Amino acid sequence: MKLPETRILMTGATGGIGRATALILLKQGAAVLLVGRSDAALERLAAEYRALGVPASRVKWAAADITRALDRSRLVDEAERLDCNVVLHNAGVPAFGLLRDASPEDLASVVQTNLVAPMALTQAMLPRLLTLPAAQIVFVGSVLGSLGLPGFSVYGASKFGLHGFAQALRRELAGSPVRVQYIGPRSTDTGFNSHGVQAYNRATGTAQDRPEQVARAIARLIEDGAAERLLGFPEKLAARLNGLAPTWLDGAFRRHRQALETPADDLTAART
Ligand SMILES: NC(=O)c1ccc[n+]([C@@H]2O[C@H](COP(=O)([O-])OP(=O)(O)OC[C@H]3O[C@@H](n4cnc5c(N)ncnc54)[C@H](OP(=O)(O)O)[C@@H]3O)[C@@H](O)[C@H]2O)c1
Repeated sequence: MKLPETRILMTGATGGIGRATALILLKQGAAVLLVGRSDAALERLAAEYRALGVPASRVKWAAADITRALDRSRLVDEAERLDCNVVLHNAGVPAFGLLRDASPEDLASVVQTNLVAPMALTQAMLPRLLTLPAAQIVFVGSVLGSLGLPGFSVYGASKFGLHGFAQALRRELAGSPVRVQYIGPRSTDTGFNSHGVQAYNRATGTAQDRPEQVARAIARLIEDGAAERLLGFPEKLAARLNGLAPTWLDGAFRRHRQALETPADDLTAART
């Protein structure tokens, strides 16, 4: 869909990728309903965009915790009021470290936010989207939704789940007005990644994109309608190989395991 024709409900608008993406979408003519949990942060963000010349009619916001059913149903009402024809599921929470160190609450909250909430919001939005001449549902997953890495078992499980959900739903809705899309960024330089992740990335030679690069890719995906896109060449290749024969790559992660056993401070010191 051409961006000036879109009215986009976007979760995760207050985060690193979300802010950059909203800016590009708004600059290119989209109307955006910004969603995050903090009224104050959303109000500030909307004011920033208006100060940059975005008409007030194209930038709205709604505070909602997507893990809460009541909040999701408020979002559905708000999306209906604004006649939204695109849902961009971008909210997410990180999880990094050895599985043995994660609490049962960590496991549940990561899967609730990254997987169950976007599934439930999609289900709640779908009846209305299906009445439109054209609509899009875009999931922001991760390369780690196609490639399991040591240290990301919990996060990866949530993103593999999201990837599978998007793929199955795309096939279920083929022939309907609703197009389902999935984009998997690689590591991106936002507040999402702790010092521990940054040290792990340096120790393993993992590249990081800037949020603006991911934002441009999301805007392009909405316009060109592609079903799935992963970002970053080596990551894309590794994900493809992993899909073909998962055990081929099993021997390739010794450095990743070592990085997990080394506290972040030690890694930083070793480099300086
Ligand atoms: N950064 C990376 O390395 C990377 C790589 C690949 C994929 N991704 C994915 O890209 C997306 C955006 O990541 P980011 O780097 O921009 O993260 P971020 O800066 O930490 O932002 C996360 C966003 O999610 C929102 N959020 C979290 N829990 C929520 C909840 N329960 N209800 C409503 N909103 C909630 C936050 O809103 P509040 O204002 O309410 O906190 C914030 O807007 C995520 O899905 C992430 O998994 C990130």
